[in-house]
Amino acid sequence: MKTILITGGAGFIGSHVVRLFVTKYPEYRIYNLDKLTYAGNLANLSDIEDAPNYTFIKGDITDAKFLEDLFAEVPVDGVIHLAAESHVDRSITDPMSFVMTNVVGTVNLLNAAKNAWAATGGVSGFEGKRFYHVSTDEVYGSLHNPDEFFTEETPYDPQSPYSASKAASDHFVRAYGNTYKMPVVLSNCSNNYGPNHFPEKLIPLMIHNIRNNKPLPVYGKGENVRDWLYVVDHARAIDTIFHNGNLGETYNIGGFNEWRNIDLVNLLCSIMDRKLGRPEGTSAQLITYVTDRAGHDLRYAIDAHKIMNELGWEPSLQFEEGLEKTVDWFLNNQEWLDNVTSGNYQSYYESMYANR
Ligand code: NAD
Ligand code: DAU
Repeated sequence: MKTILITGGAGFIGSHVVRLFVTKYPEYRIYNLDKLTYAGNLANLSDIEDAPNYTFIKGDITDAKFLEDLFAEVPVDGVIHLAAESHVDRSITDPMSFVMTNVVGTVNLLNAAKNAWAATGGVSGFEGKRFYHVSTDEVYGSLHNPDEFFTEETPYDPQSPYSASKAASDHFVRAYGNTYKMPVVLSNCSNNYGPNHFPEKLIPLMIHNIRNNKPLPVYGKGENVRDWLYVVDHARAIDTIFHNGNLGETYNIGGFNEWRNIDLVNLLCSIMDRKLGRPEGTSAQLITYVTDRAGHDLRYAIDAHKIMNELGWEPSLQFEEGLEKTVDWFLNNQEWLDNVTSGNYQSYYESMYANR
């Protein structure tokens, strides 16, 4: 039996990864380690919380002793590391929490796994083990030439405190692979969207605000470009890489699906007008251009040919279909949205956006 520790499993992407592993591999034992920050929500996993092969552990990856004790207690074969501070705007106002979780937390996790695995026979203790680090395309910086794509060979050039912290964590993972011969594998993915997406990020924020007739804050001129991938397709890619990716390798994951922010917001407005029975054009009137994000990366676009050609993964959903499903999910899960947009999150949201 394989015992797998998934970190950040109560968050947006992590919850889809946990669900996929718990349901697809009943023979595995899945541990979900999450601190339950503002972004972690166990309601994301209510449908599988009683599964016999699933255990939730509340804990903080910045706590090295806690991780050491956990690895002493649980015979972990594989780590899939998603726990992170993930929002670029928050990283601009509070970079240190990104250093702590994304950099220090990742190194703590590497140490805990290395020490536990090596204790069973040095480098041979690494046999059959795997440390998978989930990262972002933002480590590559910003594209300015329309013909360019991020490949696995693109030099790192992080531009925000968030992407700098993820780049640092990627470097540590590779350094542990090189120095200690730890069995590591990495992936860098483009923007995800879908159910459980926290409504501080563009797509769920726009859906929430359209529904509530609130302004739709488009940063700058809305010309920045992102490459969107349905979150379940990212979870499928993680499954593929965890099982079949070559150790020491990095795989880029993306949807070949680039959208300018303003075009995406207009598309969402039109879908929402149709679903809410509003005359076409009603919601677009809520679009409000606001002060640009500091250091805003212009364009991200992933070349995903390596994972497609070598591991046979490809996105399963067309964007329009994925967006319809996403809008339906948010409209049918108003309680989820109300819960995460109340309390602490709401006061944060207001302090961030009141002055824009
Ligand atoms: P998220 O913010 O929705 O979830 C992060 C989870 O990590 C939360 O459940 C949170 O409680 C947990 N967490 C945070 N700090 C922790 C700590 N100190 N100890 C333990 N748990 C902690 O993030 P997400 O969007 O699901 O992203 C998951 C991972 O995927 C991140 O590493 C992110 O960099 C990466 N990624 C995200 C995207 C995207 O579009 N969202 C794209 C590519 C890569
Ligand atoms: O590319 C992968 C990354 O995608 C992940 O690593 C990050 O964790 C994830 O948050 C996401 O980062 P972005 O900064 O691209 O996502 P966000 O949803 O915050 O913003 C998407 C685009 O929309 C970006 O150009 C900024 C813009 N934006 C965002 C918000 C929240 C707006 O114009 N208005 C907004 O209110």
